[in-house]
Amino acid sequence: MPKLAIYPGSFDPVTNGHVDIIVRGLKIFDQIIICILNNPAKNALFTVDERMEMLSSCLNGIKNVEMATYDGLLVDYAVQRKAQAILRGMRAVSDFEYEFQMALMNRRLNRDIQTVFLMTGLRWIFTSSSIIKEAARFGGNINGMVPKIVQQKLKEKFSTVNL
Ligand code: PNS
Repeated sequence: MPKLAIYPGSFDPVTNGHVDIIVRGLKIFDQIIICILNNPAKNALFTVDERMEMLSSCLNGIKNVEMATYDGLLVDYAVQRKAQAILRGMRAVSDFEYEFQMALMNRRLNRDIQTVFLMTGLRWIFTSSSIIKEAARFGGNINGMVPKIVQQKLKEKFSTVNL
């Protein structure tokens, strides 16, 4: 049976750290479904369609990935897609508590789905969609932290938001 993982997240927007996890995840899994889900704790800057569009152009040429959105519980989607695992990136210690809680809650909801963590590459350890958005909002240089298309979209978004 092919090894299938769901890589869930807000991806608001996708960063180079996310892309790194996907590329490395493909060394373990046969296929990865990148799923944009709703995080009730966050107010999104980009619409789901915009996030999908950015993800697809960043992953253009990478085989064995699929993009999806789901409105509901992550484990339900994993069952629906017959995925064996949830893939998450882990950065510094600050991520640990949240990731630990989420992994254990998902495990409580469905014991058949395993959460697999990959340590974020050292280059991306301090980056997050939130900190990148904050820098971009005030015109900071985010070169090399996000794919070019995302950099452009952030520029466009903030030029209208800050009018
Ligand atoms: O990129 P994020 O915001 O850290 O991703 C969090 C996300 C979207 C994966 C998480 O909020 C999620 O799984 N949302 C869907 C609802 C759910 O299943 N929550 C976890 C168990 S309560």
